[in-house]
Amino acid sequence: MPGHGAGARDLAPGWKKYNFARKNRCSFTIPKKHNMFKDLKPEVAHLLNNGTLNIETRLQKLCELLKSSVPHYDWVGFYFQNGDRQELKLGPYAGAPTDHTIIPFGKGICGQVAVSNTNFVVPDVMGQDNYIACSITVKAEIVVPIFVNGKNIGQIDIDSNTLDPFTEEDERFLEYVNSLVSKLYAA
Ligand code: SME
Repeated sequence: MPGHGAGARDLAPGWKKYNFARKNRCSFTIPKKHNMFKDLKPEVAHLLNNGTLNIETRLQKLCELLKSSVPHYDWVGFYFQNGDRQELKLGPYAGAPTDHTIIPFGKGICGQVAVSNTNFVVPDVMGQDNYIACSITVKAEIVVPIFVNGKNIGQIDIDSNTLDPFTEEDERFLEYVNSLVSKLYAA
């Protein structure tokens, strides 16, 4: 069929899918992303160390800073354990409002991280069974836990409208962010 991509019908479906994913990947080169996070780190530290603002405000501003500075961060928020309950409660966030203000441990990507205590990188949310959708525009998600004295107290949750945008650079950067957030709760 003329004009419909010569040879496309001859390709294995896997190749097409992979090619689609590549096309929609974050357009950063690795050094560019590295430099972006390197530049952001002192800004994050400066903000979180601002003792004139309460913790809630600092985290709110942090969410806004990350969302506006990192092109593939479309929703940035914090969830914390809700008292002694086996559930997470939504904290400060930047991005579209979500109905998921309470998430039981074990449910969704966030609830799984509350139990696993490890980072969860989801390149394509369509591939997840235990996933709570917040918006149809979201294609990928990363959740990194926050530890205070070894206890998992909550997490930073980031949604992206880009397919497969998160790399180890994001994980290391968000671990750095969380190490600073952790200090606000260690007293
Ligand atoms: N997608 C998350 C729910 C929280 S929203 O992304 C804001 C999950 O599966 O746990």
